[in-house]
Amino acid sequence: LVQLPTQQLADKYFKNNPKEADTPTWTNPCNDKRHLEIVPESRKDKCQNLPDFVIVGPQKTGTTALMNFLKHHPTFLSSYDSPTTYEELQFFSSQNYKNGLNWYLDLFPDRPSDRKTLIFEKSATYFTSSPTIPRIKALLPKIKIVSVLMEPGARAYSWYFHQKAHNIPAAVKYSFMEVLNGKEGDDSQLLDLQNRCLAPGNYAKHLAKWISAFESNVVIVDGDKLKADPIAAMNDFQHDIIAPSFVDYSKLISFDEQKGFFCPLENGKTRCLGISKGRKYPDMPEECRKTIDEFYAPLNENLKDLLLKNELSFPTWLK
Ligand code: A3P
Repeated sequence: LVQLPTQQLADKYFKNNPKEADTPTWTNPCNDKRHLEIVPESRKDKCQNLPDFVIVGPQKTGTTALMNFLKHHPTFLSSYDSPTTYEELQFFSSQNYKNGLNWYLDLFPDRPSDRKTLIFEKSATYFTSSPTIPRIKALLPKIKIVSVLMEPGARAYSWYFHQKAHNIPAAVKYSFMEVLNGKEGDDSQLLDLQNRCLAPGNYAKHLAKWISAFESNVVIVDGDKLKADPIAAMNDFQHDIIAPSFVDYSKLISFDEQKGFFCPLENGKTRCLGISKGRKYPDMPEECRKTIDEFYAPLNENLKDLLLKNELSFPTWLK
């Protein structure tokens, strides 16, 4: 009997079953006796390491800061960094899904047997990705979903500067106001950038899908509070996620004057995120603020309705 490496095995299988080619679905072998029986002995414990919660994004809302703060908590354990995608695993939202479940499992540390721990991963691309929800649901039906909601205008502005920093032609060529004013028939790169700036901030549209799949297991983090008052935000988070132990974050993080953000303390010194997180750029011009507020006003009303209906608390910026 010959066992091929996962990718080759998958290629062979999907060549014979072309209809299934785009829809493999990984489930948890530990939940299925028949599957568990064919898992090699050395890997049988691995599925115990699957995450208890996933930070799903959206991008540019403070997801890296949240992950970084959690890494300093004694009872939260983060995934390892992905070897292929910068830091994030992006398993459910990308081609990585085709690498198979073992690829994903190998990116988690072993669950300590001597204490209660919550294991997590953070991939901010999950929030708006359509295949992600059914895939997570199939593998981890009881998982908690964490979404960070920052005021969507600020998120859009942050995304614009993120693209500019990466020399994306449309962001270099057009001002933020021009991006906001883009109309049908304009330069397709401009419209694409406009969409990437604005669409993820339609939080209600995306969040409704997560709530419909994971119901009361959806946890909201206030992105503006996480930025301005992370000690309070992290204390709230520990409560909402039901942390195995509670740590007062005033002991773990401190404001760094040079960075202009709160950063974790390591050996009495702040250790901040890199230059791509917490960039310095001009305040949003007033005319852009007015346009973007008008754009998001009805969408934020939808978000209020959704949060109210599901008994979720409002982020400060929405009140
Ligand atoms: P800017 O760089 O535009 O300010 P993400 O990690 O989801 O990509 O989010 C990046 C954003 O996190 C940053 O956007 C910044 O505003 C925000 N942020 C919140 N708390 C932070 C912190 N303690 N350090 C750095 N950035 C933080």
